[in-house]
Amino acid sequence: MTSRRHEGWIATRGSALRGGIVVPGDKSISHRAVMLAALADGVSRIDGFLEGADTRATAAIFAQMGVRIESPSTSRRIVHGAGVDGLRAPSGVLDCGNAGTGMRLLSGLLSAQPFDSVLAGDESLSRRPMNRVIEPLSRMGARIDAEDGGLPPLRIRGGQRLEGIDFQSPVASAQVKSAVLLAGLFARGETSVREPHPTRDYTERMLSAFGVDIEHSPGFARVRGGQRLRATDIAVPADFSSAAFFIVAATLVPGSELRLRGVGVDPRRTGLLAALRAMGADIVEERSASHGGKPVADLVVRHAPLRGIEVPVELVPDMIDEFPVLAVAAACARGTTVIGGAAELRVKESDRIAAMAAGLRSLGVQVEERTDGAVIEGGALRGGAIDSLGDHRIAMAFAVAGQCVDGEVAIKDVANVATSFPGFDDLARQAGFGLRAR
Ligand code: S3P
Repeated sequence: MTSRRHEGWIATRGSALRGGIVVPGDKSISHRAVMLAALADGVSRIDGFLEGADTRATAAIFAQMGVRIESPSTSRRIVHGAGVDGLRAPSGVLDCGNAGTGMRLLSGLLSAQPFDSVLAGDESLSRRPMNRVIEPLSRMGARIDAEDGGLPPLRIRGGQRLEGIDFQSPVASAQVKSAVLLAGLFARGETSVREPHPTRDYTERMLSAFGVDIEHSPGFARVRGGQRLRATDIAVPADFSSAAFFIVAATLVPGSELRLRGVGVDPRRTGLLAALRAMGADIVEERSASHGGKPVADLVVRHAPLRGIEVPVELVPDMIDEFPVLAVAAACARGTTVIGGAAELRVKESDRIAAMAAGLRSLGVQVEERTDGAVIEGGALRGGAIDSLGDHRIAMAFAVAGQCVDGEVAIKDVANVATSFPGFDDLARQAGFGLRAR
């Protein structure tokens, strides 16, 4: 049974979460691995590739541009790089599906190609702001037309000569930074990006692994245009953002002791660990290792009672994808949790502040919605009905909520869970969740 075949789930209390599980590969790293391998000279092997709809859409886009990509087995890709000058004009629209990362990073890369291209996405992606990439790329000389308000589809005019820029990004966004750096690879001179808060540096590190000379430090990156990429092999760790649902569930369900194996624990991704520990969670990192220069560890999570906190604003970019599940932890904690400085949540796959507030209220939780966050009163949850608004992380967060409810949580519209976490429902049941198709 996979999530894709079902319209919805019923989540109920299950058993204590025990044993060891491995969640699928990191989405951010999988997107970038395919992109850079496609641009490299030579053959790259990717292990641990996320078989999600988002990352498969990115791979399909490169195949449409003439890159040969073999899938010898699940989670493996062999990419025959076309070289920085080897992509071919696609014959149709390039469909990014649900993936903001796919569309924004590709907008940078395609701005520098000799051919025209069109990037489109699903209903959710078609509502997400693209001016944040169009503006800096246009300053570099790119020509991109969007719908009113800077919305997709993006029509990118090829054959432009790009110039390097020194870009001070107004948003802490790894996608914006990466779009500019990828365009910078093809631009004349140097391209620098400065961020208001350091974000995940996967693009910078992976460019370096592909032999590109790039200077970077937290919040800053600079690349010189005109360099070639050298094929390399990439091992993708388990995605912390997928592990997050199990971390919170094991924390909330009495008697749990769950080991999540081989999770990427980059500090720019693991703000949730700091927030949960401040709330009283018991999470231990074991078997820590370095995986291509990045930390990976087993996370051992034991049940612990939680108390509400004021989430430190400086943690927000490091846990930006984890707020749906943090909100569930807050609803089950003793006392009040205050989330602020997180207005970006309004422009994710859904308006996540509104989606979480509505969902939690239907479970009887008191929530005050704010422009840039929410105030959540912890307490007992009751059964209710949730509309995930087609947002994978909202759907999975409420599957976690169902583990703490006397009654049933009915979750509508869960097909998009397959964008980031194919097989979530099977793995969740295996770990101890009460979760079935409705
Ligand atoms: C991502 C960056 C973040 C994150 C998204 C993946 C990436 O988005 O929310 O899920 O892979 O670079 P922003 O760059 O919009 O913050």
